[in-house]
Amino acid sequence: MQLDLDLVDRRLRTAFVGRRLIYLTSTPSTQDVARREADEGAVEGTAVIAEEQTAGRGRLGRSWVSPAGRNIYVTIVLRPDLARLRILGMAAPLAVARAVESAAGLSALLKWPNDVLVSGRKLSGVLIDSEMYGGDARYALVGIGVNVNFDIEEDSEIASIATSIKREAGHPVLREDVLASVLNEFEELYTSTSPSAVRDAWKARLDTLGREVRVTFRGAVHEGLAEDVDADGSLVLRLADGSKLAIEAGEVTLRG
Ligand code: BTN
Repeated sequence: MQLDLDLVDRRLRTAFVGRRLIYLTSTPSTQDVARREADEGAVEGTAVIAEEQTAGRGRLGRSWVSPAGRNIYVTIVLRPDLARLRILGMAAPLAVARAVESAAGLSALLKWPNDVLVSGRKLSGVLIDSEMYGGDARYALVGIGVNVNFDIEEDSEIASIATSIKREAGHPVLREDVLASVLNEFEELYTSTSPSAVRDAWKARLDTLGREVRVTFRGAVHEGLAEDVDADGSLVLRLADGSKLAIEAGEVTLRG
């Protein structure tokens, strides 16, 4: 079934996020469409939504499984100042976690840096592309994928590590409810007058802290105790020799 955009609109409580919706039945990636829109001056909050992506992208050069009609693939065009740019990677997954709780009654945790987990499996991922000009962001593209009514078993590559709302709740849910809730929660966090409160709320949900982890980033592997996150959201590892190392991005796996 196709998304009912009128229903999404009726559920929206935002001032600008999602107030202009670009809806596509199929596209390679909503990030690319959003980039073109942003380059052409799209108003802040423009959201590009697709029923299907034929070349959906994840972080670290991965692909994002994007079958038609069952999930949410959305990219939001933003024009943040530097303080807001720094919290995007926290605000977006936190918004999804809150939305999943309110729309489906599931309890969601976050995996550093910006995955949303339910029952230890990945339900949602966030991809942020920013276009800088001088020291400022000309725009940022916040891409969010949420597995909603997807039967994860359909894709053998992710079947053991991913999940969907349907799988966790035991029944399908309205994608419109989840999408509107993500947009509502996101705008509230993005416009917060206290970036440190957003960071604290994100940190409070991080499942990664306090665990022995292995972090892979640009070919280097670091092992240690995930002790903290700094103001930028970098993960602070306590290494075996007692020293600390802050890592800005990467892929975390649990050790032992
Ligand atoms: C990740 O966890 O690696 C990030 C996944 C991000 C997927 C979303 S779906 C909407 C937007 N378009 C894309 O091609 N990717 C993002």
